[in-house]
Amino acid sequence: MAKATYHVCTLPGDGIGPEIMAEGKKVLAAVGEKADVDFVCEDHLIGGSAIDACGSPLPDATLDAAKASDAVLLASVGGPKWDSTDPKAPRPEQGLLGIRKGLGLYTNLRPVKIYDALAGASTLRPEVIKGVDLVIVRELTGGLYFGRRERFYDEEGAGANGGRGQRAYDTMEYREYEVERIARKAFEAARKRRNKVTSVDKRNVLETSRLWREVVHRVHDEEFPEVELEDLLVDNTAMQLINRPADFDVIVTENTFGDILSDEAAQITGSLGMLASASLGDGVSLFEPSAGSAPDIAGKGIANPLAQILSAGMMLTYAFDMTEEAGWVESAVERVLDDGWRTRDIADDATPADHVLGTAAMGDKVVEYL
Ligand code: IPM
Ligand code: MG
Repeated sequence: MAKATYHVCTLPGDGIGPEIMAEGKKVLAAVGEKADVDFVCEDHLIGGSAIDACGSPLPDATLDAAKASDAVLLASVGGPKWDSTDPKAPRPEQGLLGIRKGLGLYTNLRPVKIYDALAGASTLRPEVIKGVDLVIVRELTGGLYFGRRERFYDEEGAGANGGRGQRAYDTMEYREYEVERIARKAFEAARKRRNKVTSVDKRNVLETSRLWREVVHRVHDEEFPEVELEDLLVDNTAMQLINRPADFDVIVTENTFGDILSDEAAQITGSLGMLASASLGDGVSLFEPSAGSAPDIAGKGIANPLAQILSAGMMLTYAFDMTEEAGWVESAVERVLDDGWRTRDIADDATPADHVLGTAAMGDKVVEYL
């Protein structure tokens, strides 16, 4: 049989992106060798570096290459270099939003898990975070992020308020099918886990949330009656996440709530540099670390590449159905940590200096443990 070949569209992006991407590729190549599979990676531009090179945060060539690939592996976008006060200037984040929309990636999976070796990194007490293992299923192509918006000058307001008449609005809109398909993804994920879904909304205020809750319940009753379903208001969820994080299994919510809650959930672990994510639709999927581009440490060779490596691991599972090989990656990362190897961000006073590794050395270490 011919050797399987997968084409991966790699998007290093900005900040620490290129450094951590190199380690993701390194691990991918090692897995390929061991599994006798060829991963052919091809770099393309996105974000600020794409703005610099061709004036657009998501060049057509990048979206075309992503669509033609078997999977997309992204590192990070953004940085102060592209902060502009001009509302019309292109922003790196538009590259990310554009590729999410362009590939129809309506499901974002963000697993949050405590690594025993890193439990001390959390700001929460050990007995609170013990056993935390949850996944946020965030709707990724709707809501405020993609709704109608406008900024304009309001003559009337100007007269009454000393000449300051600027106005702006964003709209949160959801269609029934958008809620339906993300709800289905959440229930399917729960079936493979601990069979529990928490649906998060703001039903006491928002019409979109009332629709959300209705549709989630209909999908549940019709298709997944055996899965446990609870509803929680988003403000209360913010509290419960730090109060009893281990109680959650699958949390499903709309785009903006998911953005906020996933940062909160990530912080429960105390090690943002460890969290991977998968964005899925009905075609090509995209995998990326949950953390940002960390421009302050870019180019120094000290960034933590583990989230990038674990994102490559998620790619093996979700894009290539290589669950066993994904297990190699996860287990290698776990054993590297158990043996005390750290990057600077996850090191503490107890870490001997010779166990603090740079970005490339950490990638090498994972390959060694594969
Ligand atoms: C995320 C990020 C993005 C988002 C930004 C960079 C546009 O915060 O992936 O959570 O808000 O979705
Ligand atoms: Mg975010």
